[in-house]
Amino acid sequence: MHVFDLAAPDDFDGWRDHARGLALAAIPPEKVSWRVAGEGGDLFGQSGSQANRAGYQPLSVPRAFIDLARSAICHSDPERFALLYGLLLRVCATPAILTDKADPLIRRVEALAKAVRRDLHKMHAFVRFREVEGAGEGMRFVAWFEPDHHIVRAASGFFVDRFTTMDWSILTPDLSIHWDGARLRESPGATRALAPSGDPVEDIWKRYYAAIFNPARLKVKAMMKEMPRKYWANMPETALIGSLIAGARNREVAMVEQSQKWLPDGQEEGLSTHAIWSDLRKEAAACTRCVLHHCATQTVFGEGPVDARLMFVGEQPGDQEDLAGRAFVGPAGQLLDRALADAGIDRTHAYVTNAVKHFKFEQRGKTRLHARPNAGEIRHCRWWLDRERALIKPSLTVALGATAAHALMGRALSVSSVRGTAQMAMDGGETWVTVHPSFLLRVTENKEAEYRRFVDDLRVIARRLEALA
Ligand code: URA
Repeated sequence: MHVFDLAAPDDFDGWRDHARGLALAAIPPEKVSWRVAGEGGDLFGQSGSQANRAGYQPLSVPRAFIDLARSAICHSDPERFALLYGLLLRVCATPAILTDKADPLIRRVEALAKAVRRDLHKMHAFVRFREVEGAGEGMRFVAWFEPDHHIVRAASGFFVDRFTTMDWSILTPDLSIHWDGARLRESPGATRALAPSGDPVEDIWKRYYAAIFNPARLKVKAMMKEMPRKYWANMPETALIGSLIAGARNREVAMVEQSQKWLPDGQEEGLSTHAIWSDLRKEAAACTRCVLHHCATQTVFGEGPVDARLMFVGEQPGDQEDLAGRAFVGPAGQLLDRALADAGIDRTHAYVTNAVKHFKFEQRGKTRLHARPNAGEIRHCRWWLDRERALIKPSLTVALGATAAHALMGRALSVSSVRGTAQMAMDGGETWVTVHPSFLLRVTENKEAEYRRFVDDLRVIARRLEALA
């Protein structure tokens, strides 16, 4: 028996190095045992075999196998290493076996990979950070999470990406990870008691989730499947689930009535969407999710009726917007106003916001020159755009320019490739893409024709909005 030590339960690279040597030496799966450091195992085998010392010669397998194995290895099933090695031998002999969906071994390994992907999705969605006292220099956020599988390392990139500018720790029973804004560290598992529970921001989140909860779409079974009870303790908003479900029918009736009459600010009864929006706006005013807040004067949040059916998303505030704290009030905003009037759209009925909420610029003498936000800045700021959209739920959204289209669709695309046809935003909302008004200010050739084309786009959008009603 050959026994191989792996550094961690998700040690894909270690497994791959050993498995490559074993496969080249044609060692059958039943002659191999896998042991994870710290988990005990078969102590009688001969550790580090000839097969492994055969060296890391190349062994060619389809990319799909590597992807499958990388996911499946994070599963908590103790047999995963042996199953994957057995599959590797078969894939080496017959690469096409991977497409055989009826093969029991393929099915078993695919089920492992699927469970891991699902667990990752849950971790991305259900981790909730709580603010704790930092060690003297600023805020620190800590979350507790109990994954079913060994996914913490695999999930870490997502959190580094989303919360780059925060100091945070995610504690889990087997492994904890810590980010200090520059470096990711690991430490052993923790207990729930070490994680904080409850902080002042939770009230805001509770009100926000209560507001975006749509009673007409309530499907209790599906919800329980998607959000199993074991995660509830970590999520402030779940404290509301019982009462939201209980009141769903009444709220549904109220929603239908409410949708027939718009009450101006301050006159709504019960949970006011406007109050929630106001809280979000205050939260965003203190946003430090990316570096842009360092130089900008202030966060420029969206504005307009919180029950608007039409939402315009621009790129980022310009020089004048940055100073005024309001979206589209400078030259591009004035051109937008003129075009909206020509197309018969009343801007006061629309919600107008930007993909990025801080002004990005390069200082040239006394002038602040607009600089285009990059993909990371767009992604960080989508946090706010997502929340504005979940609250306002527009029937139709207009992306003004490529940055807005990127933020809404989640990928870079050219305006010309999608202009004039309905698209679907990442959150499922109907979206139309047209040029940014700044383009019309800059363009020198066919200026008037370009303007007329923009107005034509807006007319089509206005008609579509009417049809949706
Ligand atoms: N450009 C934008 O995209 N948004 C503004 O608010 C102003 C100019």
